[in-house]
Amino acid sequence: MEKILITGISGFLGWNLARRLRSQYQIYGTCLDNLVSISGVEVFTFDLSDWAKIERLCQTINPMAIVHTAAHSNPDYCELHHKEALTLNTFATRELAKAANRLGCRLIYTSTDFVFDGKKGEYSEADDPSPINYYGKTKFLGELEIMNYCTQYATLRLGTLYGRGSGTRLNFFEIMETLLLSGKRPSCVSDQYRTYLFVEDAVQAIGQLIGETSPKGLFHLGGPEKASRYQIAEQLCARLGVAASSIEKVRLADFPSAAARPPDCSLNSSKIKRALNLHLNSVSQALDRLCARG
Ligand SMILES: NC(=O)c1ccc[n+]([C@@H]2O[C@H](COP(=O)([O-])OP(=O)(O)OC[C@H]3O[C@@H](n4cnc5c(N)ncnc54)[C@H](OP(=O)(O)O)[C@@H]3O)[C@@H](O)[C@H]2O)c1
Repeated sequence: MEKILITGISGFLGWNLARRLRSQYQIYGTCLDNLVSISGVEVFTFDLSDWAKIERLCQTINPMAIVHTAAHSNPDYCELHHKEALTLNTFATRELAKAANRLGCRLIYTSTDFVFDGKKGEYSEADDPSPINYYGKTKFLGELEIMNYCTQYATLRLGTLYGRGSGTRLNFFEIMETLLLSGKRPSCVSDQYRTYLFVEDAVQAIGQLIGETSPKGLFHLGGPEKASRYQIAEQLCARLGVAASSIEKVRLADFPSAAARPPDCSLNSSKIKRALNLHLNSVSQALDRLCARG
């Protein structure tokens, strides 16, 4: 079996990826504080901030592809911890890009819609990034490092992900579901828009990008429609048999946070849909699947 290295295998995306790809590839995965156990997958602790050791890690495993999902992914944390965010999101990404290039293996880098300022929305790959928070800046700098140091790369700017994870860190869907089912009243923002992406669609796209003849370059990958969290929560209430009045409708300005939040980071995903002949689940389709499974 061909080998794949997934950084951040204990994260929401990395865990979902490993579970989907383990039947096709021999998977190696790195984590930091949360040592997860995934049957058939070799998981080990490796601090990517210690980037001088990254080259040796990659040489030892010698994978056909690296999927780099590890990051400081919480924008507020990044805003308050610049050095840590820059070290992991940018410098470690650069070292992985160099190592992948030396090995001649493919590198898939997961970037974010937060590279945009959110003033326009429906961003395509031709639009210029203009991040308004430090997380977005460090991820965009990571994109530049990949372009500078690696030839066999695919950079995916992802919309906000939702679905089911390992339980280590709950994503907004899981948090809303837990609160609604326990009779609590979640607050959901109604004036901030994203193309929310079902994690299984992200996994499907990344799986297709791993092959040696797969398309390279920069791709946007968000869900097929623009929505606010409030709109998603309304759809979730209907499926859980909970009254929509259980949700508190709030505005972005009511939630001051360390990192500024772009109002509309929706992504135009036409390029990747064409390139991979990809079906992207609507929020309604994804919630049907998530709620049916329970
Ligand atoms: N989730 C989203 O909505 C979203 C949207 C757009 C883009 N993205 C991007 O997609 C990727 C995956 O996101 P996610 O939600 O799966 O992230 P996540 O759940 O926050 O997971 C982050 C991963 O990075 C690891 N990590 C943190 N610091 C590390 C270090 N110093 N050395 C090695 N590993 C370290 C964590 O390990 P431990 O858990 O073991 O500490 C964890 O496995 C990220 O690159 C993110 O920027 C995510």
